[in-house]
Amino acid sequence: MNENRDLVVDEKQRAREQWSHDPAGALYGREHEFGTREFFDAVERHRYTEYAPWMCEVMGFNKFALARLLEIGCGMGTDLLQFARGGAEVTGVDLTARSIEISRQHFGVYGARGDFAVSDCETLPFADGSFEVVYSNGVLHHTPDTAGAVREIHRVLRPGGLARVMLYHRGSVAYWGDIILRHGLLGGELLRGDSPAEIMSRYVEVNESGGRPLVKVYSRREARKLFSMFREVKIQVEQLTRAELFILGRIIPEAMFRRLRRSFGGNVIITARK
Ligand SMILES: C[S@@+](CC[C@H](N)C(=O)[O-])C[C@H]1O[C@@H](n2cnc3c(N)ncnc32)[C@H](O)[C@@H]1O
Repeated sequence: MNENRDLVVDEKQRAREQWSHDPAGALYGREHEFGTREFFDAVERHRYTEYAPWMCEVMGFNKFALARLLEIGCGMGTDLLQFARGGAEVTGVDLTARSIEISRQHFGVYGARGDFAVSDCETLPFADGSFEVVYSNGVLHHTPDTAGAVREIHRVLRPGGLARVMLYHRGSVAYWGDIILRHGLLGGELLRGDSPAEIMSRYVEVNESGGRPLVKVYSRREARKLFSMFREVKIQVEQLTRAELFILGRIIPEAMFRRLRRSFGGNVIITARK
């Protein structure tokens, strides 16, 4: 029991170390002074035009005007700022104090309004039914008790409220091509006895600090099961770059690329109504 608790504390500490040193997306602003408007503009440009052009529409940044919206694991606050610009009344929480510091600075640079708190997604510091929308992108697969975090989302949503959560996809080109085939089989890491989870923690996040955060993946079915306490659940798959498909990526037409992205992309997006 104690050993288990120590492991969980250790996972959380690794997460804090990882994202204190390598805030998600910061790499793409590196040509500018950290924390300036130019820096945040560059991070945003890369995210929504190069890396994930589908994101604004699928996540619905401008669909929640006047809603009380919570983002769990807001990182540098890049998505949260889009919801705020869309008119939502936003709150951001993150396990890493540095993320909250950067998010506050980010909102300050653009004169946006938002509330922020350092908090663990497994124990949210909000009363039942506090929010109309809870959003989380690329966070819950890094925490040991993902099911507990989903129960917390359900609790803090008001009846009829909406959860939109992105988790990494088990059925993706990234998982099978990069983790299992490239590192696991060709690189010999599976044969040396490493588990896919260990391989993922080494390569999935940017690891300039040497951090090795916990990383899990979910199939569509596993994601649906995780949210089975919700009334309605919709599952979408997104996120693929042409570079991930090598030569094929250079020659296939846009419509086919979109189909592949929606089947074998790296993100499972769950939209669930309480
Ligand atoms: C990959 S980053 C994603 C950040 C942001 N959502 C984005 O899309 O850029 C993961 C974030 O989740 C936060 N995080 C990790 N474990 C957490 C937990 N148990 N509770 C809350 N936040 C957590 C990390 O501190 C980090 O900021």
